[in-house]
Amino acid sequence: MSMQPKKRVGVLISGRGSNMVSLIEAAKAADYPAEIVVVGSNRPDAKGLDRASDEGFATFALDHKLYGKDREAFDRDLHAKLLEHNVELLVLAGFMRLLTPWFVDQWQGRVINIHPALLPSFPGLHTHERALEEGVRIHGATVHFLTSEMDVGPIIAQGAVPVLDGDNPDELAARVLTVEHEIYPKALAAVASGKATIDGFRVKVEGMKPEGKKIIS
Ligand code: GRF
Repeated sequence: MSMQPKKRVGVLISGRGSNMVSLIEAAKAADYPAEIVVVGSNRPDAKGLDRASDEGFATFALDHKLYGKDREAFDRDLHAKLLEHNVELLVLAGFMRLLTPWFVDQWQGRVINIHPALLPSFPGLHTHERALEEGVRIHGATVHFLTSEMDVGPIIAQGAVPVLDGDNPDELAARVLTVEHEIYPKALAAVASGKATIDGFRVKVEGMKPEGKKIIS
């Protein structure tokens, strides 16, 4: 059986990059359908950039502060950087910056994002604090295709964790993060291999077995 060429992936981060590391680790497998070709950030001091270059990946930083209010100028430079590396698929991994409709249009169907909540619940910031305030008993993370609306887009994968009595936001965040590290590499593999396809607002994932498991908390 001939193997498909690996999809060339760019990863964008703004911080420590633990999701990026989970993708780097997964992509080391010979049969993983994607290879990370560049890691970029809007913050030159993002810890994850050092980690990526230590691991031998090409990196770039575009300091968003140098662009003032001109979001499209930032996005055009970002676009150019990604093209320089022949990026085919873009993965946002803790990238804390909204992209313009122009950018989203250029990359239609080729950008995925991870959000630390079970969308459509708790879009935006401070998801763990808000989950605790609302008293939900199940919380989690979502991987979705990017649209120009923040934290809205066809859902590729979700993972859930219980909210435990006495949890504080940091404890809950750490529990959700373990799920993020599991679902993101799987979701990227599904997209890169062509197994995950957008069908209206739903995503069909070929070969996904209905496990029939219930999540009760
Ligand atoms: C993750 O929880 C991600 O979902 C959120 O920001 C956090 C980034 O963590 N948007 P890391 O930089 O991947 O460690």
